[in-house]
Amino acid sequence: MSLVEAHGWGYGGRMDAATTLIIFGATGDLTSRLLLPALGQLLATEPHRRVRLIGAGIEDWADEDLKKVVQKSFAASDSEASLERVEISYRQSDITKTADLKALLKGLSGQVALYFAVPPAVAAAACEALTPEILPDGVMLALEKPFGTNEQSAHALNARLAELVPEKQVFRVDHFLGKSTTLNVLGARFANRLLEPLWSAESIDAVDVIYNEKLGLEGRAGYYDHAGAFVDMIQSHLLQVLAVVAMEQPATLDETDFREATSAVLRATTVWGDDPVSSSRRARYTAGAVDGVQKPSYVDEPGVDPKRATETLAEATFEIHNARWAGVPFTLRSGKALSDPVREVVVRFKPVRHVPVGLTGSAAGAILRFYLAPDEMSLELNLNGADDPFVLERATLSADLGAGQLLAYAEVLSGILDGDPLLSVRADAAEQCWRILQPVLDAWSRGEVPLEEYDAGSRGPDGWPVRR
Ligand code: BG6
Repeated sequence: MSLVEAHGWGYGGRMDAATTLIIFGATGDLTSRLLLPALGQLLATEPHRRVRLIGAGIEDWADEDLKKVVQKSFAASDSEASLERVEISYRQSDITKTADLKALLKGLSGQVALYFAVPPAVAAAACEALTPEILPDGVMLALEKPFGTNEQSAHALNARLAELVPEKQVFRVDHFLGKSTTLNVLGARFANRLLEPLWSAESIDAVDVIYNEKLGLEGRAGYYDHAGAFVDMIQSHLLQVLAVVAMEQPATLDETDFREATSAVLRATTVWGDDPVSSSRRARYTAGAVDGVQKPSYVDEPGVDPKRATETLAEATFEIHNARWAGVPFTLRSGKALSDPVREVVVRFKPVRHVPVGLTGSAAGAILRFYLAPDEMSLELNLNGADDPFVLERATLSADLGAGQLLAYAEVLSGILDGDPLLSVRADAAEQCWRILQPVLDAWSRGEVPLEEYDAGSRGPDGWPVRR
């Protein structure tokens, strides 16, 4: 059962009829690496589901080619047994041509989802080529990140999508919204009187959202060298996490209340002090070893153009201009080829105003951490020392939250197949994320923030604050 179903957030209920899932870009890496394993896992977890999978791509593949990929991908998520509940076919098509799309979509009925697992320019061209008449009734349109390449292009794409289907049928995919721990923030915040009254600038000093990876470029230069760490991770994923951490309490977790609350946060967010230069940093890795495996310098990776000055580590601090958060820095950082894969939301509480005279030792503020991977949580507090009760010592309470039954992608896919947009990014939020970032991107392109360097396998450039 998906989280959406488990929490009773969905609308759909059980679905025994086969859903048609058409994947644009079926021959690509995203499909085999993420989407299909997620589909396999979803089918394995929900035995009532059946899917008719139609892969579309420009390559001259036969059904058998796609079947082999599906088999391999299902094996990757231990879900080979689900193969019998998926009917697979491949259609060679140019999805930027209306005639090809018409042929592909002709005669489809029942629940249909179109998944655009293609680069943003191709997705935009396909949306131009689609027309409302050729789309099956009630079709869900799922678009991968990045959604557009700036605020204007995201706006134009939203306008085009609105001509095709109602907003509730558009799924802007951000798999971080499907991560168990992102969703666990909601339970911890909203179901504990211990936390919710303290969840504001009154008691919180700062919030960090960090997602550092050991992974390097992994052969993705064609995409990554244009995006960079800032757009790849902060523009989409980490701003969504920030929105969940900072949102006002919604009355219900339905898509209207939940998405309005996260959008309201994004609308109120700007770069700290409106100064993109002092509030952002960027760097890129040079040759080094990660876990004993040698990596070349980023600029020597195949497909990288050093002139693009793409960063592989990015950080920026933001402020949320509302009564709850004004004055609290939210720092978002993400990077690749780092030694220490810190992936967490760190909530730093203020220290108490007065410690009784007679108690010694540090009374630093409490720190609450939500680990995005592995899914755990911890709370650091000051307690009386074990040896001398008049000397404060730091103690950590921790909990294992569990990774959830479903991969984040499977969670998101389940929403798409059931027509529940709760965990997808709403149109306005997708535009806001670009608006928030643009001053930093502009300052970087003017060269106002130096592109620093760090050895692959290190913790990042010397002099960057340790955030953990
Ligand atoms: C993807 C980014 O969206 O998220 C990758 O494009 C990144 O660069 C990945 O590695 C991180 O998410 P996860 O869930 O794979 O850790």
